[in-house]
Amino acid sequence: MTDVTRRGFNTLLAGGLTAAALPTPILAAPSAVDLTAEPGMARLVPDDFPETAVWGYGGTVPGPTIRVRQGETISRRFLNRLPQPSTVHWHGVRIDNAMDGVPDLTQSPVASGEAFHYDFRAPDAGTYWYHPHNRSWEQMARGLSGALIVEEPEGAPEVDLDEVLLIDDWRLTDTAQIAQDFDNMHDWAHLGRVGNWITVNGSGRWRKAVERNARLRLRLVNTANARIFELNTPGLEGWVVALDGMPLETPRPLGGLVLAPAQRADLIVDVVAEDSSEALLTSRDRDGEYKIATFVVEGESRPERMSSPDPLPANPVAALGRLDDARKVDLTMEGGAMGGMRGAMMGGRMMGMREMARAGKVWAFNGRADMPADPLVAADRGETIRIAMVNDTGWPHAMHLHGHHFRQIGAGGAPGPLRDTLLVEPGDTAEIAFVADNPGDWLLHCHMLEHSAGGMMTWLRVT
Ligand code: C2O
Ligand code: CU
Repeated sequence: MTDVTRRGFNTLLAGGLTAAALPTPILAAPSAVDLTAEPGMARLVPDDFPETAVWGYGGTVPGPTIRVRQGETISRRFLNRLPQPSTVHWHGVRIDNAMDGVPDLTQSPVASGEAFHYDFRAPDAGTYWYHPHNRSWEQMARGLSGALIVEEPEGAPEVDLDEVLLIDDWRLTDTAQIAQDFDNMHDWAHLGRVGNWITVNGSGRWRKAVERNARLRLRLVNTANARIFELNTPGLEGWVVALDGMPLETPRPLGGLVLAPAQRADLIVDVVAEDSSEALLTSRDRDGEYKIATFVVEGESRPERMSSPDPLPANPVAALGRLDDARKVDLTMEGGAMGGMRGAMMGGRMMGMREMARAGKVWAFNGRADMPADPLVAADRGETIRIAMVNDTGWPHAMHLHGHHFRQIGAGGAPGPLRDTLLVEPGDTAEIAFVADNPGDWLLHCHMLEHSAGGMMTWLRVT
């Protein structure tokens, strides 16, 4: 099809037709760029292995990086060429609710062969990403995600290299194909779908040449379904300057860094490894430390390290109201393997764990395993809300709030940095507070995608 069309087009040009002589297009020129979810092939695993059949935006893994400046509008005509319905969620963007991409809450799922026009303003600078929100545990395990970078209009740090690193975790068969056990209830009741192959920007051997003393801005995004990365950076020294897109008021010296599913971290690091050696990004699991990305030190080195970076310019997020006056709600997480939950409410009645599992649920929020008809909180616009998230399970959960950034309230009431996804360890209670200033219906769910599918999903209404 494409070839024929292109040949036809070339013939027209060769025939010397002027633009005026061309037929008027039936459709108006699209004002938006297309973003197509479709099957494709990716070279995830090098060497003798075959390419992997994936689903990707533009058929690629990761999808195209979208880069705009703060305050600009992003306009994409989403085309669904997958064999099942999909949507696009713009993770971390304090977006217009109608553009949030949540099926049956903010829009109808986009059926196979259909399109939906996303058009929204990016109010905050920083590192964001986009991914499907329908059967996300399958669609993201198959490769659908991409980076959304919103540049600071001014005050961006001076760096030699600004690099986006989408870190993903794949479960591959021994012919490097995606294992199709998406609905594996054992995964759902444990940590989630943890894979056996790690990529950065779709490559299992991501490498980049850098100079000694070069300064890098690394925009890390954890796009894995469930894997938590415990990052180290031998040969790189520097600072965390933003978390989940939002600048830290003071850059924090980089020690180890935990990156849970959906979390982002912007690092400013200097290459301190010796010439002709390597600086690394590593993580660890129970088998030990493993390499994620390699920076090969070569070329002319900078004479010396640059001075410490200034904080990034703050985004226009409203300041919290008085915490003592704020409305407070509890969200208790239960269920999963070794959790001791006996059952939960589903479809208006109590179900035991076996019956729940048959209905595809293994977790509960406040004793409910299905998406409630009523919101967890109905907030008045501008109200400060506190949510105490109680992890009464044996597993960590990466809790994500749509449409807003929140702060964790530490012991003693000190608010932490702005985030949109917070890792809550088993047995812990994490209290968050935020100004509910974005009208609409917003999800609050675990970003271990098998957990949200398995019952860890609720919502808030702001009016
Ligand atoms: Cu990144 Cu509700 O999702
Ligand atoms: Cu979870």
